[in-house]
Amino acid sequence: MQENIKLIDLIIELVDARVPVASRNPDIDELGKGKSRIVLLNKSDLADASWNRRWMEYFEAQGAFALEVNSKSGSGIKAINSLVQKACAEKIARDRKRGIVNRPVRAMVVGIPNVGKSTFINSFAGKACTKTGNKPGVTKGKQWIRLNKDLELLDTPGILWPKFEDEQVGMHLAFIGSMNDEIIIMEELASDLLERLRLLYPDAVEQRYGISWADSSAGTLGEIARVRRCLLKGEALDLKKAADLLTDDFRSGRLGRMTLERPQEQDAEGQEKIQ
Ligand code: G4P
Repeated sequence: MQENIKLIDLIIELVDARVPVASRNPDIDELGKGKSRIVLLNKSDLADASWNRRWMEYFEAQGAFALEVNSKSGSGIKAINSLVQKACAEKIARDRKRGIVNRPVRAMVVGIPNVGKSTFINSFAGKACTKTGNKPGVTKGKQWIRLNKDLELLDTPGILWPKFEDEQVGMHLAFIGSMNDEIIIMEELASDLLERLRLLYPDAVEQRYGISWADSSAGTLGEIARVRRCLLKGEALDLKKAADLLTDDFRSGRLGRMTLERPQEQDAEGQEKIQ
């Protein structure tokens, strides 16, 4: 990644719009110092529209350029080209002063696993792109995708590792399905998710399952199991099945568009500033 960053002018950082903080690795701020930056709120179709706007403002206030996109449908992707020109305006002007014209901006896509990097590159590069192949000397062994005369993209994205050691980050990544479910106790995860949803989207849960909130998250999960007939032999409630159902409904957007992290919480902790 460090080697690749030397070759580029612009970092296109993908974050998950539902959890824009947990899905970042702030090390990119240090790694990408001096490079232009665009933050893309990907999977914006699964996140709350009004919070998408608030998060864009948040990242812009930190000095990045930001945009909400849906890499799966291609929505928002077209607007990136003009944003690239804005984000790299200084570099383009500098080149011009030195008499360098027609040198495309070179960009690299970075993000944590599962954030949608490959989907984004496919969508952004589309079918019209051509792989420019190796460029002798400077970029030996690297494949560049020429998107247009103004922009080239490194064809392999940079993988950032999330800050798993932070408990809340781990939990939020588990909510969106970016941790291995095999190693998670799904009933506990579902209870944690219910706690968060009770705070942020209480009506959505009640409406989807036709239930009322119980005194505890475990009780609410039991209610979901009951109304959805998640039952073990002998009619005992199958809480694991209800937990899988809930997390799947959340991850696929069937519970509605939801944003689990809010910018003001970050401001309060004074974290996550892009340098
Ligand atoms: P990565 O390279 O960063 O690891 O992520 P990748 O592109 O493989 O995407 C991970 C999953 O996220 C894929 O789903 C992909 O379709 C989905 N995805 C990417 N961008 C968006 C988006 O903007 N909105 C939505 N709703 N989903 C998105 P999958 O379940 O692994 O595959 P598939 O069933 O979609 O084929």
